[in-house]
Amino acid sequence: MNERWTPDSWRKKPIQQAPTYPDAAALQSVERQLAGFPPLVFAGEARKLKRALGKVAAGESFLLQGGDCAESFAEHSADNIRDFFRVFLQMAVVLTFAGSCPVVKVGRIAGQFAKPRSAPTEKAGGVELPSYRGDIINDIEFTEEARTPDPRRQLMAYRQSAATLNLIRAFATGGYANLENAHRWMLGFVKDSPQSSRYRELAERITESLDFMRAIGIDPEVHPEMRITDFYTSHEALLLGYEEALTRVDSTSGDWYACSGHMLWIGDRTRQPDHAHVEYARGVKNPIGLKCGPSLSPDGLLRLVDILNPDNEPGRLTLICRFGADRVFDHLPQLVRAVKREGRVVVWSCDPMHGNTIKAASGFKTRPFELIMQEVRNFFAVHQAEGTHAGGLHLEMTGKNVTECTGGARALTDADLHDRYHTYCDPRLNAEQALELAFLTAELIKRERQGRERPRVEAAE
Ligand code: PEP
Ligand code: CO
Repeated sequence: MNERWTPDSWRKKPIQQAPTYPDAAALQSVERQLAGFPPLVFAGEARKLKRALGKVAAGESFLLQGGDCAESFAEHSADNIRDFFRVFLQMAVVLTFAGSCPVVKVGRIAGQFAKPRSAPTEKAGGVELPSYRGDIINDIEFTEEARTPDPRRQLMAYRQSAATLNLIRAFATGGYANLENAHRWMLGFVKDSPQSSRYRELAERITESLDFMRAIGIDPEVHPEMRITDFYTSHEALLLGYEEALTRVDSTSGDWYACSGHMLWIGDRTRQPDHAHVEYARGVKNPIGLKCGPSLSPDGLLRLVDILNPDNEPGRLTLICRFGADRVFDHLPQLVRAVKREGRVVVWSCDPMHGNTIKAASGFKTRPFELIMQEVRNFFAVHQAEGTHAGGLHLEMTGKNVTECTGGARALTDADLHDRYHTYCDPRLNAEQALELAFLTAELIKRERQGRERPRVEAAE
């Protein structure tokens, strides 16, 4: 793979999951317009995220990545963004405290619109239409017109991403992300949770730490780091014409960056090493995620690692593992060993969502909370056994009180799913379930940290 890379070199490669636009001229016109629009993020920010992820790869930080499976035009509101951000920050506080280490915060937001599908068409009532591929491509309504890919939707997605990012930046830097706010919201969650006794101890220790800091004069008014947070955006780089139009040269380094989001990932269905999606990703300097599912062999992974991170740059590559709770032990150890043997520096992250989707008796696609948590536990167990760092979580979640995943402290059942099942694609953890997952993962992080500290104590004796 030494051929010259250009932002459009992917066009010469075979491609999976690409929509067929009936009006090629309209598509070209949209791509030209996008190419003239301002970038959504800057190269310097992507570099900063890469440095932060480099620390995760070194075992010094933890990555929290999450958000909608698919953002939608219909659900674009300040309330949704705020509620997501609030829950996400609380999760980050819990994880930071548990690991006594920084948490790198990356949303699946401000660009997560395009979806790979298991089949190109969908049948209902004897009618066959193209599958819904995300709001950036077509509309979810089951009519011929709605399902026809429309390039103008890319302009809407770009503008929605810009507006979302604008609000997030305001939240992250304008005081809303204040550590004491996040702490207060978290206490509200703990008080109301049916599992509150389980979470209370950690919450109380955070309260004491903050009280102590305030007593000695460390508070948000004086210390901007308690008021401001770094928050990054990410999405699956699936719609490559859109990505190409937003690919820009960084004037400082002369390098190419994807400027549609800080971090992009390659989906499990589009990671063929000689195909278009890998070709696009290899040439941009952003941090890149790679979904690793059960069909990925250790050799296949090493080949992709070589292509995507030939210089073995820390923070460049995050391997997002999504096997299914009961398959983690069959697949993950061999991948971890291969990467370790070759001395490749990566972030290991766990996506406990995509391997644990089932169809409930009611007909809804769901994910049982207990299976999700089991995949996280198994992921930590493998890394503990292999002596590597369980580096992160990749979640589909929302700040709203939806009923899409079963289980959790409120024990949502199949019969509850129809209540508030709002997702445009896969079932998400609701606000409470997401926070519960953070508290339970905090226990695992703490154990990993204690495991690492123990040998040092023994050596000193
Ligand atoms: C996703 O993250 O929404 C997704 C489609 O994941 P995967 O590529 O792992 O199936
Ligand atoms: Co999904």
